Amino acid sequence: MTTILRINLGRLLSRLETLAQVGAIGGGVCRLALTDEDRRGRDLVLGWMKDLGLDVTIDQIGNVVGVRAGKNPGNPVLTGSHIDTVATGGRYDGNLGVLAGLEIIETLNDAGVVTQKPIGVGFFTNEEGVRFTPDMMGSAVYQGIFKVEDMLAAVGTDGKILGDELKKIGYAGAESCGGKRAASFIELHIEQGPVLENEGIEIGAVEGVQGISWTEYLIKGTSNHAGTTPMNLRHDAGYVAAAISTEARRLALEMGGAQVSTVGVNVLQPGLINVIANEALVSVDLRNTDNSLLQYAENSMADFVDALCTTEGVSYESKNLVRFDPVEFNSDTVSLVTDTALGLGLSVKKMPSGAGHDAQMFAGNCPTAMIFIPSRDGISHNVKEFSTPEHIRNGADVLLQSIIRMAS
Ligand code: GLV
Ligand code: MN
Ligand code: MN
Repeated sequence: MTTILRINLGRLLSRLETLAQVGAIGGGVCRLALTDEDRRGRDLVLGWMKDLGLDVTIDQIGNVVGVRAGKNPGNPVLTGSHIDTVATGGRYDGNLGVLAGLEIIETLNDAGVVTQKPIGVGFFTNEEGVRFTPDMMGSAVYQGIFKVEDMLAAVGTDGKILGDELKKIGYAGAESCGGKRAASFIELHIEQGPVLENEGIEIGAVEGVQGISWTEYLIKGTSNHAGTTPMNLRHDAGYVAAAISTEARRLALEMGGAQVSTVGVNVLQPGLINVIANEALVSVDLRNTDNSLLQYAENSMADFVDALCTTEGVSYESKNLVRFDPVEFNSDTVSLVTDTALGLGLSVKKMPSGAGHDAQMFAGNCPTAMIFIPSRDGISHNVKEFSTPEHIRNGADVLLQSIIRMAS
């Protein structure tokens, strides 16, 4: 009887813990893309990749990919994710996928297993998209969806240029971008939502990722005295910002189904209690698994903002920051994940992803799949993000066995 190869949970947890110390904030992590913390995190993971004997390349957008040779040459079966975080990030989002990839490599090294195809593990630049937009930037460049020159020119929320910041942290690599093909791509990630936990299911086999639309509105009104300006004579940017927020929620509730909407940024100027706001910066994040419904939501919000600004007598500029169509993963690859999980005696559910992921950038070019594990209380993008060691072990074992099958 052959025993099934298993990952070493202690080793994976220890790497997760060590990486979580870089940019640590109250149990979570703040490691914004291309900051000094990101550099320190990258240095750590790059060192581990080299220790494991991987052949590591850094490309012009700062993606880092380490490859373990197979018996045959050719494109690798690629796994990985991201190690940048949001400012209020947890320690698992992205990091788990990268470090589980390294754990798979070490498990195979220890067992002396050489697969037919090479296996690669990567971490992709700026997945989160909070300092520089768009999100999933590195993986999109890797797959030729965005041009590297355009992304290097991206301006951050702090006014810094992405290309300069990349050089500053020492990750402006030499490897060209855009034509990088993988034999297949598979990413382990925490669910970041409550579905698996609520249903008591151990593994999610992700069937696709919903479409994402990010728009930023800059509203310009007139600041004036809060006590002396009659209500009917105001041009209040703060009011418009608040109305956009309530409309985004009303619309999503009215549409129902998979539609979600979020106003995560609402910054008023001058931001004083007794002064009508003359400026508001407002973000609208809309997502849906159905592209035509997502378009309907985008058009409805645009019409609403336009009409409201006219009525209030304020001007506005709108800027589309991100637009990704919904993505469907290859059904055979999703089934491979499902079968692998069932074969390990785990319960599994096919499900869509609510969050954006690097994997979606690969889906148009190669068979792609994702493995989800439960998130405690469905919490993510929050320092309280947590997944149990047992779920981490399950997810990494499913990743290991899936990769072995994909690379054979
Ligand atoms: C990325 O984490 C996103 O889904 O916003
Ligand atoms: Mn992520
Ligand atoms: Mn995230």
